[in-house]
Amino acid sequence: MPLTNPYKPIIAKVTRVVDETPSIKTFTLVPEEKIEFKTGQFVQFTVPEVGEAPFTPSSSPFVKEEMDITIMKAGRVTEAIHCLKEGDIVGIRGPLGKGYPLEEFYGKEVLVLGGGVGMAPLRSLLLTLIAQKTKFKRIVLLYGARTPEDIVYKDQFAAWEQEGVKIHRSVDKGDGTWKERVGVVTVLFDEVKLDNEIAIVCGPPIMMKFGTFKLLEIGYKPENIYLSMEKNMSCGIGKCGHCALGPYFVCKDGPVFKYSEIKNIEDIWD
Ligand SMILES: Cc1cc2nc3c(=O)[nH]c(=O)nc-3n(C[C@H](O)[C@H](O)[C@H](O)COP(=O)(O)OP(=O)(O)OC[C@H]3O[C@@H](n4cnc5c(N)ncnc54)[C@H](O)[C@@H]3O)c2cc1C
Ligand code: FES
Repeated sequence: MPLTNPYKPIIAKVTRVVDETPSIKTFTLVPEEKIEFKTGQFVQFTVPEVGEAPFTPSSSPFVKEEMDITIMKAGRVTEAIHCLKEGDIVGIRGPLGKGYPLEEFYGKEVLVLGGGVGMAPLRSLLLTLIAQKTKFKRIVLLYGARTPEDIVYKDQFAAWEQEGVKIHRSVDKGDGTWKERVGVVTVLFDEVKLDNEIAIVCGPPIMMKFGTFKLLEIGYKPENIYLSMEKNMSCGIGKCGHCALGPYFVCKDGPVFKYSEIKNIEDIWD
């Protein structure tokens, strides 16, 4: 079997750019070779002459010809990504890490708890759950953003609801048009009766922390809470140690972890 270089990106063309919020855009990429990924895995996105950074695809893994990646402007690489236009050429390395263990969710209620751009991997997950929805007891989405303007995928929630996903949303600060809940995302727990089976959380560290504590308080078991952990990365394949989290490397052993696996590690929410 030919040896492939794990550091060599696959060339991909940007075919669509969608402005989600003032600081978040979704890029559709068509790679020269098909990239098959499991929902929850990530890729390293290279901007030529700038560098690379890790992102989780936000599209369905069942769509093989193209991949959506939703990116918040945070610093050097993401600023360069936000300048990309249709037709530009970039690189993709991956898929890397482990995805969500979907088989463990079969027959159960799956609660998806998201905040801000943390909705990116969760969109991929939701599309995957919806595609095989008869395998799950119920799919519930609780999503929070800072303001109505900061909500990503604004035009897609209605379609997910039509597919049977029970959706509740909140914003920290409403405006004249906002008719849903105001408050941090955990306020949504009083709107829905849950079976406390499987919970999947992704968002800013503070939201992951208080979201997890709320889940534990209402009776979720630590081994049934799945968190997407973010650490600064370099190699992405378990060689350099940049992404160490206690005994784990986030790139190789994660980025998805059960809370029970990492709860005794110091500073997991930093
Ligand atoms: C597995 C994984 C999946 C991710 N998926 C997404 C995604 O789908 N969409 C998205 O918008 N972002 C995602 N991120 C975060 C994204 O990788 C960072 O925002 C990006 O690396 C910042 O690069 P930069 O060069 O623009 O910023 P830098 O110039 O490197 O830094 C800007 C600021 O962001 C902080 N920062 C840098 N890297 C990270 C990081 N990995 N986590 C937290 N803070 C960081 C720095 O400390 C600094 O304060 C993911 C991160 C990981 C590890
Ligand atoms: S990024 Fe190098 S070990 Fe994880």
